[in-house]
Amino acid sequence: MTTDIEALKASYKAAGQDHVFTFWDKLSKDQQDALVAQLVEFDPSEISTIAKDTIESFTKLTSGSAAPEDSSVEPLPESATFSLLDSSKEQQDKYFAQGLELIAANKVAVILLAGGQGTRLGSSAPKGCYDVLLPSHKSLFQLQGERIERLQNLAQAKAATSSTKVAIPWYIMTSGPTRKPTEEFFEKNNYFGLDKANVFFFEQGVLPCLTTDGKIILESAGKVAVAPDGNGGFYKALVKAGVIADLEKRGIEHVHTYCVDNCLVKVADPLFIGWAADLKLEVGTKVVRKRDAAESVGLIVAKNGAPAVIEYSEISKDLVGLPDSADPSILKFRAANIVNHYYSVPYLQSIPSWPASVLPYHVAHKKIPYIDLATGVEDPKPTKPNGIKLEQFIFDVFPALSLSKGQFGSMEVHRSQEFSPLKNAPGSKEDSPETSREHLLAQSKGWLEAVGATFPNSETVVEVSPLTSYGGEGLEKFKGTVFDKPEYII
Ligand code: UTP
Repeated sequence: MTTDIEALKASYKAAGQDHVFTFWDKLSKDQQDALVAQLVEFDPSEISTIAKDTIESFTKLTSGSAAPEDSSVEPLPESATFSLLDSSKEQQDKYFAQGLELIAANKVAVILLAGGQGTRLGSSAPKGCYDVLLPSHKSLFQLQGERIERLQNLAQAKAATSSTKVAIPWYIMTSGPTRKPTEEFFEKNNYFGLDKANVFFFEQGVLPCLTTDGKIILESAGKVAVAPDGNGGFYKALVKAGVIADLEKRGIEHVHTYCVDNCLVKVADPLFIGWAADLKLEVGTKVVRKRDAAESVGLIVAKNGAPAVIEYSEISKDLVGLPDSADPSILKFRAANIVNHYYSVPYLQSIPSWPASVLPYHVAHKKIPYIDLATGVEDPKPTKPNGIKLEQFIFDVFPALSLSKGQFGSMEVHRSQEFSPLKNAPGSKEDSPETSREHLLAQSKGWLEAVGATFPNSETVVEVSPLTSYGGEGLEKFKGTVFDKPEYII
């Protein structure tokens, strides 16, 4: 298809963005084609409008001139919550069995958010390829893939007929920078033993980076500086990349979505799926208990009666340390957000009908490589933030769900069993490769101790493979085993 260059130029001019053609006449034919290929993907007037609205509301917010929000913030009502910390084992086993039945009936899929650039971690490879230095040197992707395989095997025993092959399709959302290395990593590692036909890669969208007054930034003479559109770009991408259509084709009814950097994630957790399906939720979210009033995490709350995430900076000092009225030893506002969601497929099918206001854009000030339009001098590594990226947040859809209609719920899980994110570079105190390793190994040891194994030497390192156990099950044969060598992989 040939592009009408004059029409393209006119559309950018009408939107006040025609500076993207500043160096047009100096570009080779290939460079011109590459620039056009980028520009046709954007709607310049939409970008100018989004930029204007987003920057305006951000400026009001940060200058304090926004009208004070008259919002009421409460914990979610009890009817919308379930906790693994204080519910019975019978109830949890019931939900787990329900979830496993759904997996056995091939009704469950997994969607992974792996489009982030992992700037804080500082690795050039996608985060999922990261080796947190377990004895096995398994990457995060491998741990997740093996958990899927283990669950498929557990569910296979429950399948209606022995010829029904249980599969949990795994949809992996990448972005421009992470797509190719992610696919190559899976190829190189033979899809971690999974059937390639059940692993899909798709890409989230990108948006141009902007100056603080809303102008598109050119990274070089023939290239727009772009960045992924945030983890909220997930919804648009599901439709555009055909994921929804594939879910429909396969008859999937329930989806688990999670972040690539959580080394403890219970991928396709049957208990979570069983609970959400039993309650007929449209969206569910896992939370962990906030450690103390000072921990800076986002919280799942009811804001003006609707489910919402409020950031640590948004919760008032009066509320942050309030004790729970039923149990003063814990915080009233304690439901820490870990971006670990359940979606019903009918809910995801409704995405095309959502108004744009459901997913507003947020502003992140960043260092963006750019070319000076006046001098033509490039700065590939600015030292200070010089522009903004626009991002959508995956949880911004929560307030559109009704608590009274039972569309949304939250499940509190054990942090030590389910949440340890890899965010920061080696050597950092929190959320680092070292803490990921420590938490994975502590979990393995805890599972073995629970069945009666012993570790005479506290230095002993033991790693339980996800192929051996998904969540501590199947380890009874180690009852009475004394692990006295320095290292084990089982
Ligand atoms: P973070 O917000 O922690 O970002 O992502 P990040 O890219 O991993 O790390 P930093 O902030 O650059 O250091 C939380 C989850 O959301 C995904 C990430 O891959 C991770 O699983 N994500 C984030 C996307 O899929 N797309 C995005 O545009 C941003």
